[in-house]
Amino acid sequence: MAQLWGGRFTKETDKLVYQFNASIHFDKKLFEQDIEGSIAHVVMLEKQGIITCREKDDIVKGLTGIRTDVESGKLTIAEDYEDIHSFVEAKLIERIGDAGKKMHTGRSRNDQVALDMKLYVRAEVVQITECLHELLETLITIMENNLTTYMPGFTHLQKAQPTTLAHHMGAYFEMFKRDVLRLSDIYKRMNYCPLGAGAFAGTTYPLDRSYTASLMGFEGPTLNSMDSVADRDYIIELLASLSTIMMHLSRFSEEIIIWNSNEYRFIDIDDGFSTGSSIMPQKKNPDIAELVRGKTGRVYGALVSILTTMKGIPLAYNKDMQEDKEVTFDAIETVKNCIVLFNGMLSTIKFNNKIMEESAMKGFTNATDAADYLVNKGVPFRDAHGIIGRLVLYCIEKNSSIDALSIEELKEISPVFEADVYDAISLKTCVEKRLTTGAPGPSAMKEAIKINKEFLEHIRNKDN
Ligand code: ARG
Repeated sequence: MAQLWGGRFTKETDKLVYQFNASIHFDKKLFEQDIEGSIAHVVMLEKQGIITCREKDDIVKGLTGIRTDVESGKLTIAEDYEDIHSFVEAKLIERIGDAGKKMHTGRSRNDQVALDMKLYVRAEVVQITECLHELLETLITIMENNLTTYMPGFTHLQKAQPTTLAHHMGAYFEMFKRDVLRLSDIYKRMNYCPLGAGAFAGTTYPLDRSYTASLMGFEGPTLNSMDSVADRDYIIELLASLSTIMMHLSRFSEEIIIWNSNEYRFIDIDDGFSTGSSIMPQKKNPDIAELVRGKTGRVYGALVSILTTMKGIPLAYNKDMQEDKEVTFDAIETVKNCIVLFNGMLSTIKFNNKIMEESAMKGFTNATDAADYLVNKGVPFRDAHGIIGRLVLYCIEKNSSIDALSIEELKEISPVFEADVYDAISLKTCVEKRLTTGAPGPSAMKEAIKINKEFLEHIRNKDN
């Protein structure tokens, strides 16, 4: 048992209590951030004349040495320390002696852990954005290649109107684009440094909080030291945004699973992204999509977990908040894996254009356009709706489609029909005429693609 406190205690901590309280088995993930924060802290302590230049140099050298040794495997993070902060401080003192005991001057583990977690989350926000960026690149490529790949669009999972694969993929592009923008909002809002808040009431040492903030690329210091150590809003915002990403991926997965089914056959998932059955030799299962859909639950779980943890906590720091870490780490790893795996699956999917087009031809997806045809010939829309409804009923009885009926049969239902109806309700016309902004018509789609490519260019430049 190795802990930083003990002076006022008269007996050893109970073993089970120690284990229950300890966090090193998960907060060792914050090792890099802990070193980075400590270096910034001591550089500032020296600048402010709180420690000497020599002491600062010794501490910085000690800390970088510990970092190098952990990275190379020479030093392992032993789990008999209470937390990562205790481990680093103990190792430092072991290596450089008394100067190491000055590192924690003007600091508490409360502001230290708040900083570590912020540094971690901030870097992950960037990484998750990069994963989403890759996915958006895949989507835009599919969109550009499939402006006239016709397919049925659905409402209530019933064929509704014809659309294109580009248009359907474009819907997901918009969702993941909003996810990127949400992450960027979170980054901006959270980018204030809590270091120097101390336990919760600041400190009497003349710290320069703006300086440490700028050393670590923060916009500035946080403005209330009590809030600085008690705030986990940015974690909640992150988990809410990760939940939304998972919800999008899960909806998309659901469609992939449906499209891949024997009944639809709109797509073939690549063998490299499918799995087989131990008993049924013919099976090729969409497990990646199913796992992504399934893992959505645990990311939502993380959000609910932290919201619940935070709801009854009085100001300022309370140990409950240690519970923020495991769920957040797990959710971040899960989401990154899901985006990467999903993107791999999507970019290798084979779209069966012919089957999609044939499917769009069936199921009366051109019924709205047939009604619009009559409207253009002067029939009021409500009457046209009724006429086409009767026409559909007639087709169902005859097991036919509207465009397969002869002009005589059509005229029998409404004398307004003329030979030009066939062109007016063809799949091509149905799609091409939909030119309002955001619609599947090729020129409308090209405009959306152009704007979205500019967006991708913009985030690409930000990445570099
Ligand atoms: N392991 C703790 C956490 O994650 C570090 C902060 C400890 N602070 C304290 N007052 N015991 O929250």
